[in-house]
Amino acid sequence: MITKDSLKVLDVSSPAPQYVCLKLDAGKPLQGLLPGMFYELRAPSQKGRLFKPISILEVEESTLSFLIKVVGAGTQAFTQLKAGDRVEAIGPLGNGFPGIAGRRVLLVSGGAGYPPLAWIKRKSDVAGFCLHLHGCASADEAFPCDLLYTDDGSLGSKGLVTDSVDCLIAEHNIDLVFSCGPVPMLAKLTELCMQIEHYVSMEAYMACGIGVCHGCAIPVDKAFKLVCKDGPVFDATQIRWSEL
Ligand SMILES: Cc1cc2nc3c(=O)[nH]c(=O)nc-3n(C[C@H](O)[C@H](O)[C@H](O)COP(=O)(O)OP(=O)(O)OC[C@H]3O[C@@H](n4cnc5c(N)ncnc54)[C@H](O)[C@@H]3O)c2cc1C
Ligand code: FES
Repeated sequence: MITKDSLKVLDVSSPAPQYVCLKLDAGKPLQGLLPGMFYELRAPSQKGRLFKPISILEVEESTLSFLIKVVGAGTQAFTQLKAGDRVEAIGPLGNGFPGIAGRRVLLVSGGAGYPPLAWIKRKSDVAGFCLHLHGCASADEAFPCDLLYTDDGSLGSKGLVTDSVDCLIAEHNIDLVFSCGPVPMLAKLTELCMQIEHYVSMEAYMACGIGVCHGCAIPVDKAFKLVCKDGPVFDATQIRWSEL
């Protein structure tokens, strides 16, 4: 059930220079949450401004974790929090990725698209095989994964996270691909994975987060769908990438 709560901050850390990790106490055991689902979060200093959609990084009993890249005022405000503060939270929102039991899965994340795929990787013992690729600008944005790609070559392989996808799919007999990251990365992956079941977690500017304002509509299939309510996870082949 979607609720609007004021959640207590349990911990705030900075695992990388431009990132903040928040642990929030949901105050009750959390059940039925799936990777890809998100919360609309707002720090107290942002009252009167928009909530920010942030994917769940991890759920442990009644604790929710989020990994947030600081890009503007809304995300910057999370860095000012300390344990004991409160954050306004609306959620859980969205649909989440499908199950991976028995499947041979490739996870591909880029930049701040890391959290939902990192959560799937941690739960991947039910998969037949699961490989997580992460791409980012430099070592400063690197997080744990199986294969890392950096634009500047400062850590992992120099290049784009999409560079070896077709080889890896063939080598590991992949039958399911999940991705989350910048639109050009997702569009390129969709081209590379046309023959394979592929789900993407999409980003969009959001206001309400609950399907009321229609601010997050994207072209899907023959119509428009709402990232907050119908997504954020979509079948990649149904998105009209050239219209984004
Ligand atoms: C479903 C969903 C899940 C998300 N999960 C995460 C997450 O787990 N971690 C994380 O770090 N970020 C995540 N984001 C992105 C995050 O919501 C935005 O970065 C944040 O709202 C920016 O707010 P701001 O006030 O700091 O920056 P703003 O001042 O709003 O924007 C700063 C810059 O970021 C760009 N920007 C802002 N929002 C978006 C957006 N939605 N899509 C593309 N560009 C944007 C703006 O164009 C501008 O250049 C998610 C977005 C969605 C839709
Ligand atoms: S953010 Fe309002 S409808 Fe999606």
